[in-house]
Amino acid sequence: MKLSSLSRILAGTALTILVGTSGAVAAELNLYTTREPGLIQPLLDSFTKATSIKVNTIFLKDGLAERVASEGDKSPADVLMTVDAGNLIDLVEKGLTQSVQSTTLTGSIPPALRDPNGNWFALSLRARAVFAARNLDVKAITYEQLADPAWKGKICIRSGQHPYNVALIGSYIAHHGEEAAQKWLAALKGNLARKAGGGDREVARDILGGLCDIGVANSYYVGLMRSGKGGPEQQKWAQAIKMVLPTFEKGGTQVNITGAAVARHARNRAEAIKLLEYLVSDEAQKIYAEANYEYPVNPRAAVDPLIGEYGVLKPDTVELAKGVGFRKAASALAEKVGFDN
Ligand SMILES: [Fe+2]
Repeated sequence: MKLSSLSRILAGTALTILVGTSGAVAAELNLYTTREPGLIQPLLDSFTKATSIKVNTIFLKDGLAERVASEGDKSPADVLMTVDAGNLIDLVEKGLTQSVQSTTLTGSIPPALRDPNGNWFALSLRARAVFAARNLDVKAITYEQLADPAWKGKICIRSGQHPYNVALIGSYIAHHGEEAAQKWLAALKGNLARKAGGGDREVARDILGGLCDIGVANSYYVGLMRSGKGGPEQQKWAQAIKMVLPTFEKGGTQVNITGAAVARHARNRAEAIKLLEYLVSDEAQKIYAEANYEYPVNPRAAVDPLIGEYGVLKPDTVELAKGVGFRKAASALAEKVGFDN
């Protein structure tokens, strides 16, 4: 073969590669998220590496629903990602999502942790846990037992109006009804060692300080404190406690989620679904769990050892959407029993 014809073939091949590559780069999607960019960027990078789909991220601290609603059918959003089941359900109720049917998604996410109509899907879980003094003999506890007079003056917890506690009270109502929930909440308030307030990490701080024996706090804070990511002082707080995963008497552990939905007017629908499917894959779930100490939603994926040590999470089987439906009632109950006074 003459050199000139060889170079013509090579040039042709190069052209094909160029066209091929530019074709792949053209695949992209727009992600609107309230999750901190540092937490999700490693996941998006590995998604792009696996699929050649570029992800343009728009980070919104607040007002995600308002932003998408105001953009209307011109909205460039393809995927909406947020924390808290209430926020996801809010997106659905505002008509900002669309239904997705995917056996990959339904096969990886338990039914209680996704919308029955496919409008949203949980991606990771955080448990409303109990922190207990390390030397205390508490191996198992139910949410119901937090109202037991044996704990009088021994429990620390943040405000009853904080979304984490409103969600917990909402789930309690879903299990027992409003009347029983009110009795429980009043009794729990009667058991407090100090005024309800502060953050979840302060529960560990106050256990170390001897103010309380147990408290209610989110699971990922244990990982944040133990790992040293929260600084050396918080590491000491973490050393004072162990985490117990409480359950409802007839149910599992109350969880909240981070999750995502495909936007109603998504122009890159197929790519959007691919991103959701990737995010629940064993690989992505592991990256997610290690980055933020949350529990994978996919039961096959591993949890970070700093959290895994405290046992296997069994999420409550009452649909998240049901608990969310009781949030207004939950907040009103906290007000009624003077939980924060
Ligand atoms: Fe938090």
